[in-house]
Amino acid sequence: MVQITEVKDTQSREARTAAHTHIKGLGLDEKGVAKKIEGGFVGQNDAREACGIIVDLIKSKKMSGRAILLAGPPGTGKTALALAISQELGPKVPFCPIVGSELYSAEVKKTAALMENFRRAIGLRIKETKEVYEGEVIELTPEESENPLGGYGKTISHVIVGLKTAKGTKNLRLDPSIYESIQKERVTIGDVIYIEANTGSVKRVGRSDAYATEFDLEAEEYVPLPKGEVHKKKEIVQDVTLHDLDVANARPQGGQDVLSMMGQLLKPKKTEITDKLRSEVNKVVSKYIDQGVAELIPGVLFIDEVNMLDIEIFTYLNKALESLMAPIVVLASNRGLTTIRGTDDDIKAPHGCPPDLIDRLLIVRTLAYNQEEIKIIIGKRAGLEGLNVSNEALDKLSLHGINNSLRYALQLLSPAGILAKTANRQEITVDDIEECEILFLDSKRSIKVLEESSGYI
Ligand SMILES: Nc1ncnc2c1ncn2[C@@H]1O[C@H](COP(=O)(O)OP(=O)(O)OP(=O)(O)O)[C@@H](O)[C@H]1O
Ligand SMILES: [Mg+2]
Repeated sequence: MVQITEVKDTQSREARTAAHTHIKGLGLDEKGVAKKIEGGFVGQNDAREACGIIVDLIKSKKMSGRAILLAGPPGTGKTALALAISQELGPKVPFCPIVGSELYSAEVKKTAALMENFRRAIGLRIKETKEVYEGEVIELTPEESENPLGGYGKTISHVIVGLKTAKGTKNLRLDPSIYESIQKERVTIGDVIYIEANTGSVKRVGRSDAYATEFDLEAEEYVPLPKGEVHKKKEIVQDVTLHDLDVANARPQGGQDVLSMMGQLLKPKKTEITDKLRSEVNKVVSKYIDQGVAELIPGVLFIDEVNMLDIEIFTYLNKALESLMAPIVVLASNRGLTTIRGTDDDIKAPHGCPPDLIDRLLIVRTLAYNQEEIKIIIGKRAGLEGLNVSNEALDKLSLHGINNSLRYALQLLSPAGILAKTANRQEITVDDIEECEILFLDSKRSIKVLEESSGYI
């Protein structure tokens, strides 16, 4: 007999945990005051509240072309804070995270790379009124015909789509190419869709709520049966970034207006994006903003490890911040007084940033944690990784957090979990932690070993 087994789709993807998986937001109350433990965050209250104010400013669109620096010792949650800011802003506000070193590439000039990321962080919400056919799908029949080139195959000559609204129904006879996009959107009978009359592009709005059942647990969006006629004018809102528009227009056959730019967003880029092209795009965008068709949504460009930037990039950054279309730039650094990259060795500057940039920054400080806070953070991570840790073991780990680093303490968790499992225990004990200490060195001990032994090359 043929055996058939079901493939479970509960892949390990959800179970995997990354460094910041536990961070879910800034964890502030309605007044913007940090709750002691919330949103995955523990302590660091002042920095969280400061970030909350920044989020408010960005949301109110009062702030653009400003820069914020998150400064503090390693492992104090700077990257986590930036991530939380993006979560608070939601998916509609662009958030572009990079690391300082990403700007150095052999192919693109570093200033061009910075400009590209600037434009990834600026959103444009375009409202267009389009002629569409919208309704609940009541019929979807592809009609086949003999293959005109002969042979046995059949081809789809056209497809009949029946659409229903509260006012009536309409049957449309569509081109096979539209059938492809219908399949791509996985449209089935009972879905509400609209088809753009000009381009023929199909968009699935959701499932008609006539099909909603009480037991349906799936994350399906139910929408009411559209009102009005099937054939009508509809306001369509699209969120893109300036970089998307650059890419769409860098293609050889790029169109003249935003409409045709849209249609090309997902195709691979071919031609270089030049400054000239960017200013062309800017012109079109400004026109659309003036006409009230589009709205600019400045997002966030997050540059981690800002001390990796060099003096040339810094001067360019100053200039870019002053341009009309600039996002909020959030920088992070764990350095104190450091040489600025690309300058003579003896010039030291705070955080490795030139003083004229520092002068433009709002600086948010992150502070080292106390043992109690570290203990709670480790406890949270353990919960996330599905590990039970005894109280004494938690104490021991948090001591490591104080004496070595929070990261080292967090790193020890998973190996200790494996040791406990091998010993057939449900709980991580002090013994497991001690064994891990022997197996894995922390940075201080590692340096000590190196100092004591001169055997290394
Ligand atoms: N207040 C906090 N609450 C919960 N988890 C935290 C907190 N601060 C840091 N963490 C976690 O500790 C780890 C280290 O923090 P993070 O990577 O944000 O440090 P950082 O300040 O960016 O350090 P570096 O300067 O080395 O880049 C991460 O896993 C982070 O999610
Ligand atoms: Mg970091």
